[in-house]
Amino acid sequence: MRRRLIAGNWKMHGLKAQLGEVEAIAAAAAANPQIDVALCVPFTLIAPAVAVAGALPIGAQDVHAADKGAHTGCTSGEMLRECGATLTIVGHSERRGDQHETGHDAWAKAVAARRHGLQVILCCGETAAERDAGRAERIVQSQIEKSLPDGASADWLTLAYEPRWAIGTGKTPTLEDIAAIHAIARAKLRAMVGDAADGIRILYGGSLTGANAVEILAVDNVDGALVGGASLTAGKFVPIIEAAA
Ligand code: G3P
Repeated sequence: MRRRLIAGNWKMHGLKAQLGEVEAIAAAAAANPQIDVALCVPFTLIAPAVAVAGALPIGAQDVHAADKGAHTGCTSGEMLRECGATLTIVGHSERRGDQHETGHDAWAKAVAARRHGLQVILCCGETAAERDAGRAERIVQSQIEKSLPDGASADWLTLAYEPRWAIGTGKTPTLEDIAAIHAIARAKLRAMVGDAADGIRILYGGSLTGANAVEILAVDNVDGALVGGASLTAGKFVPIIEAAA
């Protein structure tokens, strides 16, 4: 039985005025010790969030593949660790889409994060056009194939399936479709890392809320959630934490 993880992704939201939400989410995590909870915040909020988060792991939403150098606007794994981050999201579809990141870019970032002792949430997911064309399963398999580093294991890597057409839209796949993709992802993990795959958590992300969390979290091979909009306030995020507990 894999221990569930509920991770929040604040994306480009969150100023110091929202640190009270971090504290309230940390309190809810402490009150539900049977699951793991984490919160990935903008780079600028990592250190202030760490200062109020207690035992709640605070993460980033990206990491550069290099350790240092002429990479304007980028942040290294060492810098993330120095400001208190313990995990990072890699390969989020908004970076694959908006920043044209490739599977290899995600692979290199995951390797760099591991090099600096960061936990990694590695994202995958198809576009609406790819799903409509019946290519969703192949796309997810290909993204995992290209992005999963050698030696991936549960002690540092978590996978997140986030259909890009479900992110921020209020739409979600059917429970059957979620089950199908998560099973495909599990099989691909097994093909790549063998028995270690059985311990790797596969999160679902994409319009998960307190209203649909129980049913989605009950799907086979769904080991938690990566939550965007519904993680921005404790009022919306705590019901998801409690649904997972
Ligand atoms: O990384 C999680 C995010 O992409 C999901 O966003 O707002 O649909 O929960 P949202």
